[in-house]
Amino acid sequence: MDTIDTLDTDRTISTFVDFYRERGHRPLTGDSLLPPPGDPVLFTTSGMHPLTPYLVGRPHPLGTRLVNLQRCLRTTDLDEVGDRTHLTVFQMLGSWSLGDYGGPQSLRWGYELLRDGFGIHPDRLHVTVFGGDGQVGPDTDSQRTWEELGVPVELTVEDNWWSNGPTGPCGPDSEIFVWTGDGPPRSTPTTDPRWVEVWNHVMMRYHRRTDGGLDPLRPGVDTGMGLERLVTVLQGKRSVYECDVFEPWMRTVPQLWGLDDGPSLRLVCDHLRSGTVVVGDGVLPSSNGRGYVLRRLLRRVLTTLWREDPSRTLSDLPVELLDHTRHQFRQPGPQPGRPDPLREVLLDEEQRFRSLLDRGRSVLTRQGLTGPTLTQQQYHYLHETHGLPRDLIDSLLPPTPGSAPN
Ligand code: ALA
Repeated sequence: MDTIDTLDTDRTISTFVDFYRERGHRPLTGDSLLPPPGDPVLFTTSGMHPLTPYLVGRPHPLGTRLVNLQRCLRTTDLDEVGDRTHLTVFQMLGSWSLGDYGGPQSLRWGYELLRDGFGIHPDRLHVTVFGGDGQVGPDTDSQRTWEELGVPVELTVEDNWWSNGPTGPCGPDSEIFVWTGDGPPRSTPTTDPRWVEVWNHVMMRYHRRTDGGLDPLRPGVDTGMGLERLVTVLQGKRSVYECDVFEPWMRTVPQLWGLDDGPSLRLVCDHLRSGTVVVGDGVLPSSNGRGYVLRRLLRRVLTTLWREDPSRTLSDLPVELLDHTRHQFRQPGPQPGRPDPLREVLLDEEQRFRSLLDRGRSVLTRQGLTGPTLTQQQYHYLHETHGLPRDLIDSLLPPTPGSAPN
C-alpha cells in the first residue's frame, strides 16, 4: 500500500488548509466544542454546524470561501467507542462555498488534494453519489464529474443525503472512500468495509421545513473530513489508536495501569483525551447538560479502571499526555508555576465518584440489595432517598450473566 509516512497530523492539517487558502478560502478562527449562543445542541457535531446561518443565506464576514479545522463531539457514537475507528472528540477538516462555486468544482479540488497533496493513488478511490428518491432527482452533476475524473461511482439513496437535523439546510452528498485492504481494490463501498469513507461533499441545495417539505436554497457546498480517520489511512494503520494522534497515550497508559490492548484501553484513552478537550473548552463536570456528558466520560474511565484494581488513580496520569492533547487541539496549558486546572478537575471528580461509590456500596449492603438485578421501585428508592443514580448502582452490582461490561 502506498502511504506517505511523513504526513503526521500537523502536516496533514497544513496541507489541507494551505490547499484551500491557495484557492481563495479564508481560514475561520473559531473551533470551540461549544456551539454559538442560542444554539440548542450541547456540542458542535460537525464542521458546518457553526456555519448554519451562513449556509442559509446570511453573508459571512470572511467572504464566500472558507476553510477550517473544527473540533466536534458526538455522543451518538459513545457506545461504539472502544472499536478501532470511533472517537468521542475528533477534529473535522472542512471547506465551504457559500453560494460561490458548485459541487463539481468542490469534487475536482477534492480529487486533486487527495492525489497530489496526500499522495493517494487514484486507483484506491471509489465514491458514492445520490441516486435520487421520490423528492429529489439523482445528482447527475456529481456523477458526471467523477466519471470524467475516472473514479468509479456507486449510487445510493439514504447514505448520500446529509442534514444536520430534522429541519434546516441539507442536500445530496458524495462520499469519497479509500481502499485500505491488501491487494488491489475490489468490490464497492457499500459491500466491503475495507473501503473507508474519508471525505463527504454535501451539495447544500435545500432547506427542510418542519412539515418535511424541501425549499430550494442558494446553492453552497459543505465538505467534512475526519482528521483522525484521514491520518489513519495516510499512515497505513489499521486503527486510529496506532497513529501519532494517540502517541504518547498508547505508549504510556498500558504500562501505567497494566491494561492490555483492547476495548478497555481504547475507551480509557479516548475518554481521557476527550475529557481533556471538553474541560479545555470551559466545561466542568455536573449533573446535567454538557457537564453531565463530561462526568459520564470520566466516570466510565474510572469504572473501567477500578473494575480490576480500585487503587488505580488519575493522579498517576503524566502531564505529558494532557499537554500532547492540548497541543493537538490548540488549547493552552497551565500557567507557569500554577497548578494545572485540568488535573484538579480530574482528581476532584475521581474523589467525588469514589465517595459516592463507597456510600452506594454501604447502602446496598445495609438494604440487602445485592442484585444482580433490581426492580424499578428499588432503583427509584435508591435514587430518591439516597441520591444514587441508576448507572452507578449498576456498576456496584454483579454483572447479569451474559451482559457486556459498560
Ligand atoms: N457536514 C458534512 C459531514 O459532517 C460534511 O459529513
